Amino acid sequence: MADRVDISGVSLHLSASDPSRGDWIGQHEVLRQLLACWLTVDPADLPLAPRLTGPPGIGKTTLAMAAARSRGQDLYVYQCTSDTRPEDLLVTPVLAESGTIQYHASPLVTAMITGAVCVLDEGNRMNEKSWASLAPLLDHRRYVESIVAGITISAHDDFRCVVTMNEDESTFEIPDYILSRLQPTLVLEHPSRDDERAILEYHLPFATAEMLNLTVEFLQQAHELKLDFSTRDGINVLRFALKRLAAESDHPLAADAAWAEAVTACLGDDALDLQALAASRQQSLGGNVIPLGLGDFFFAGDDPLHPDADDGDEDEPES
Ligand SMILES: Nc1ncnc2c1ncn2[C@@H]1O[C@H](COP(=O)(O)OP(=O)(O)OP(=O)(O)O)[C@@H](O)[C@H]1O
Ligand SMILES: [Mg+2]
Repeated sequence: MADRVDISGVSLHLSASDPSRGDWIGQHEVLRQLLACWLTVDPADLPLAPRLTGPPGIGKTTLAMAAARSRGQDLYVYQCTSDTRPEDLLVTPVLAESGTIQYHASPLVTAMITGAVCVLDEGNRMNEKSWASLAPLLDHRRYVESIVAGITISAHDDFRCVVTMNEDESTFEIPDYILSRLQPTLVLEHPSRDDERAILEYHLPFATAEMLNLTVEFLQQAHELKLDFSTRDGINVLRFALKRLAAESDHPLAADAAWAEAVTACLGDDALDLQALAASRQQSLGGNVIPLGLGDFFFAGDDPLHPDADDGDEDEPES
């Protein structure tokens, strides 16, 4: 593909596409929803630019990239940050060795020109001014105006776009007129036990069954307790534990000791006791939790053997 194109007499240098590959495992429904957004069902129809939301490390970027690959299109990823300026998103002037100004098209504009897919990653880290420059692209007009290069650039019919957004505090409030152009919202949730195991096996096919089990159980318990440990955390813990075991082959470490060490090193000391961590998170959020007693560590809350189990009648109010 040409690395330069001419638009209204201005020569634009194009960005390189993203070469990375990766399959999407499980959660097929959300993949189908994303692909449906990008379909056009009639020559008069337009594709949608959806938002993919969910907690950090859950697979938003991976899903967006896998969806682009499954359509067989080139992929461009633009990492949005709080200091992304409109010209960074569109066209940047660069002083060339010859002393002349060259215009460089961003990954987004390159995808627009070549008819590829652009993932605007972590879109809610970007400020309103930058989002405003994309308003005409995200509605029926499908163009952007580069003030720097003095040109209007129209999107190719095959251009598709998706925005990923994180649910954390270090993000901007995106104005409503932009949010209304980024629809629908596709929400990614933590994977099921089987899917999570398949994801870990896909990324770490050399992991032993014992290490996989420890990690899957840990992640599933964390999801149940609404703790923010993600699939990415699980991959990192498992990867570190496997490296520790391999590095210590002269003085073999017990597998569970290496795994526990990896949890602490990656996620902090508290992560080894998820129940206690969840209880203290609840409390710090002002939640109404009952303090844990020793019995809570040995028996589930509804276990009849729990020392605090209600035996039926003594607490019933007298009528
Ligand atoms: N369903 C899945 N199939 C394959 N890999 C997955 C899946 N879900 C998560 N992963 C893996 O988990 C890791 C985290 O995924 P990713 O970076 O896409 O998360 P994210 O939600 O974009 O995170 P962040 O919010 O920090 O940007 C990656 O290594 C990714 O490959
Ligand atoms: Mg991401």
